[in-house]
Amino acid sequence: METKIYKPSSENDKEIKLVGDILRNGGVVGIPTETVYGLAANALNADAVKKIFLAKGRPQDNPLIVHIADIKEIYDITKDVPEKALKLANAFWPGPLTIILKRSDIIPSSVSAGLDTVAIRMPSHPLARAIIRSAGVPLAAPSANTSGKPSPTTANHVFDDLNGKIDAIIDGGTCNVGVESTVISLCTNPPRLLRPGKITPAQLKEVIGEVVVDDAVLGKLKKGAKVASPGMKYKHYSPDCNVVIVRGSFENFKKHIEKFDKEDTMAICFNGEEKKLGVKCLCFGNEDKPEQQAHDLFDDLRKVDKFGAKNVFVRCPSGEGVGLAVMNRLLRAAEFEVIDV
Ligand code: TXA
Ligand code: MG
Repeated sequence: METKIYKPSSENDKEIKLVGDILRNGGVVGIPTETVYGLAANALNADAVKKIFLAKGRPQDNPLIVHIADIKEIYDITKDVPEKALKLANAFWPGPLTIILKRSDIIPSSVSAGLDTVAIRMPSHPLARAIIRSAGVPLAAPSANTSGKPSPTTANHVFDDLNGKIDAIIDGGTCNVGVESTVISLCTNPPRLLRPGKITPAQLKEVIGEVVVDDAVLGKLKKGAKVASPGMKYKHYSPDCNVVIVRGSFENFKKHIEKFDKEDTMAICFNGEEKKLGVKCLCFGNEDKPEQQAHDLFDDLRKVDKFGAKNVFVRCPSGEGVGLAVMNRLLRAAEFEVIDV
């Protein structure tokens, strides 16, 4: 299959109409959102949804997020809309928050991997919403990477993973946020944060009161444990080389990596530190700017294999604010290997 790349200059561009037609008719398209690129298909069409799982090599038991362009669509997709859902939607939509509610029958069971719940989000990227409107149907969309790889934050990342496997890619520039949406379930009492993102636990609590952070956000799952969010049990965001998080001062980080062969070693460090380390480095923002770290993280993780390093040592983010999301993604990339120095 030839994968077409379009770069519309506005939401009214004829290419938006074109991909809307492709999607309505059962095709799959890589689309920009403010978090990461998504791989979209008509959420009401089980055959189209199947193509997403095939193109990504995604395990069948990992449910998808349904993307909408208008808050009213939530009533068709879900069985009931609790007051807390409306409060969250009013506070954070359009934006990087996914809400899990009871699924209505118009959403095929395969979208939710057989669960009776459905994850919903209204993205804020203008092209994403224009594409949903143009398709005229809600769009199921996981991140547009090959399963297990870091999520894509540019159209090129999508192309690298999925060229030849999908109908088209819409290039909407680099994603602003850089990590996937915050996922909260309102199907449990109290509500449960399943995946951290730009919208922080503190922001959620301000709007709906008590929110529990799932153990799997920062902890390693025990073998065979039941997971609230199937996506959390898979190896994720992983380059081929060995990723290790190093927690401690910059001086001790430097001393630690000096023990390894320079040729095989690289570092992901904070801005300004690269000149002081004697190995190849990628930077992921200022130490006190978790937004910058979130923005750069996946691009860095995609680049490291090109350096041919065996070991990549990463400075440990603070975990504050959106830093919780950065830490959550890094822990998975490192398969929970953290060294204290
Ligand atoms: O920012 C985002 O959320 C991006 C963009 C494209 O919108 N999408 C995204 O989708 O990250 P994906 O499929 O890569 O991650 C969805 C996560 C997975 O961890 C999945 O297990 C979880 O949400 N999830 C989806 N539906 C669920 C449900 N009904 N119950 C529990 N977890 C669910
Ligand atoms: Mg994903």
